[in-house]
Amino acid sequence: MVENALEALLKEERRFPPPKRFRERANVKDPSVYEQAAKDRLGFWEGFARELHWFKPWDEVLRWDLPFAQWFVGGRTNLAYNCLDRHLATPRRDKAAILWEGEPGESRRLTYAELTREVCRFANGLKSLGVGTGDRVTLYMPMVPELAVAMLACARIGAAHSVVFGGFSAEALRDRILDSQSKVLVTADGGWRRGAVVPLKSNADQAVAETPSIEKVIVCRRIGPSAGSGEVPMKPGRDLWWDDLVKGQPDRCEAEPLDSEQMLYLLYTSGTTGKPKGIIHTTGGYMVGCYATTKWIFDLKEEDVYWCTADIGWVTGHSYVVYGPLLDGATTLMYEGAPNHPGNDRFWAIVEKYRVSVFYTAPTAIRAFMKWGEELPRRHQLTSLRLLGSVGEPINPEAWIWYHQVIGGGRCPIVDTWWQTETGHVLISPLPGITPLKPGSATRPFPGIEADVVNEKGESVDSGYLVIRSPWPGMLRGIYGDPQRYRQVYWSRYPNLYFTGDGCKRDADGFFWLLGRVDDVLKVSGHRLSTMEIESALVDHPKVAEAAVIGKHDEIKENAVVAFVTLKGSAEGTPALRDELKGHVVKKIGSIARPDEILFTAELPKTRSGKIMRRLLRDIAEGRALGDTTTLAEAAVVQSLKERYEESE
Ligand code: WT7
Repeated sequence: MVENALEALLKEERRFPPPKRFRERANVKDPSVYEQAAKDRLGFWEGFARELHWFKPWDEVLRWDLPFAQWFVGGRTNLAYNCLDRHLATPRRDKAAILWEGEPGESRRLTYAELTREVCRFANGLKSLGVGTGDRVTLYMPMVPELAVAMLACARIGAAHSVVFGGFSAEALRDRILDSQSKVLVTADGGWRRGAVVPLKSNADQAVAETPSIEKVIVCRRIGPSAGSGEVPMKPGRDLWWDDLVKGQPDRCEAEPLDSEQMLYLLYTSGTTGKPKGIIHTTGGYMVGCYATTKWIFDLKEEDVYWCTADIGWVTGHSYVVYGPLLDGATTLMYEGAPNHPGNDRFWAIVEKYRVSVFYTAPTAIRAFMKWGEELPRRHQLTSLRLLGSVGEPINPEAWIWYHQVIGGGRCPIVDTWWQTETGHVLISPLPGITPLKPGSATRPFPGIEADVVNEKGESVDSGYLVIRSPWPGMLRGIYGDPQRYRQVYWSRYPNLYFTGDGCKRDADGFFWLLGRVDDVLKVSGHRLSTMEIESALVDHPKVAEAAVIGKHDEIKENAVVAFVTLKGSAEGTPALRDELKGHVVKKIGSIARPDEILFTAELPKTRSGKIMRRLLRDIAEGRALGDTTTLAEAAVVQSLKERYEESE
């Protein structure tokens, strides 16, 4: 984050103590939870584990062989059992587990009993295809209840799911399947996004043509023949319709008593190289972490209607659309489409229609709503809301205040939750019944979490890098197929601290202020992208010699993607080529990575050792005065680039 934004943040002095009415009913009312957890960290987590079902209790809470953790060692459990069966003997049996709204406006309601039946039938279907414990299953689907069903079915039989966001391209899907060696792909005939059909099946066909590990493709019917040019083509022997697979399958499927460390899922995320990392999460610890944080941070009550707007293709959707709320026996709302379709007030129409009480979204969305104006939310009855959440990037105080006032009517606490794909669940957040809020601060580490801010030497300081000092239950267990990269990325800067990649300040009250990434990871509208990944996509084009990508500060998206490109030989940097290159990135990664700006240049600024100086490119793109360029091989390159960039704007 830029320096002046940081200063503005730290001048932020408004305080919002929990409203009395909220505090009185809160799940956590006693501030001593922090000290109690600090005194007995393992006992603290064990307490939550005991609230869940275990087929066999654990022998040891934590086995820490740095950097490899095992939690609830020797225990046997099942995440789907805890999300579903555990509630069936209670009145939750007939409570809505999932409320779903399609983008065109249809609704579905699945009770816990109904969801359990769907999960069992699909799990039996997977088994009939030979999928078992330890296999990988890739899910490339729209936001429909079947996606949650497929995840829970995998969890039930011990297969690991690998959800690939439906906005990724065929090539991105192919690479993720190749890395995970999945046996089965579950997709759909399409999904609705901003009034158009996302061609999931056709992308899947292209991907699977190059992934020998895939034996079967299961296709969920979401769109049907009426909307497009007939039914999607099905490849005999390989493709089968979801409905045909589950037809005749028994309604019961016993949940496997799985080892606590059984791999639950892989989720690919961008790092600082061109190759996405398959983040490994396992069963017992992840389950306990999701359960505990959902219960305490979102303060769920039996009657709540909880809506996390994230797509399940990202970790937020895994932990806080599906697993956390279902572990807690809550009603979780899923919405298929875009926030601005058919109108810019779609989210508020949904809040009103389903009487949503707990609402969790990203700052990028809040800033877009601010831009669209107060009239839109004012058109809707938002009085059902009682708690708001934010995730994915730092929330600037203005957006925080707008969210608090316009959406929350001044009565709803806001939980600004910091975490990562790697952490599995929230690590820094207010507890809404006890934490006084400061707009722009994620406040304090969750009880039992030892977060710290350190300098280059690893010493505790007030401004530096955010690190975690000890293992937590939902932490990643590694990078799939690459333990070396796991050590190198997270455990090499400091030999015994988990390195988050985020800059952070800590104020006099011990509150944490997250300042954004310190590495080459971008956040574009809440999506995580790597500069290197986009560079590799550009360099893959036959006319491109070299590319450097940076994130430029953007008022709404946090980062806009700016690419500096040098072309081969006689190629000319025309507007048509610029569009072609943008299209090439979309083909390689997906439209989320489409560069906002491309500047053609004869040379890129490099250090004498040949490293591209991205910091300078950021200075150029953000219009700052150029700092020290003495380490540059060609100082003149930068000056001319700066002039050309300014002309191009
Ligand atoms: C990165 C992780 C965790 C779910 C969504 C993102 C940034 C996340 C916050 C927050 C400031 C935040 C960090 C982090 N981030 N939440 N509340 N305040 N920054 O998961 O895609 O793995 O990205 O998102 O930079 O490292 P992710």
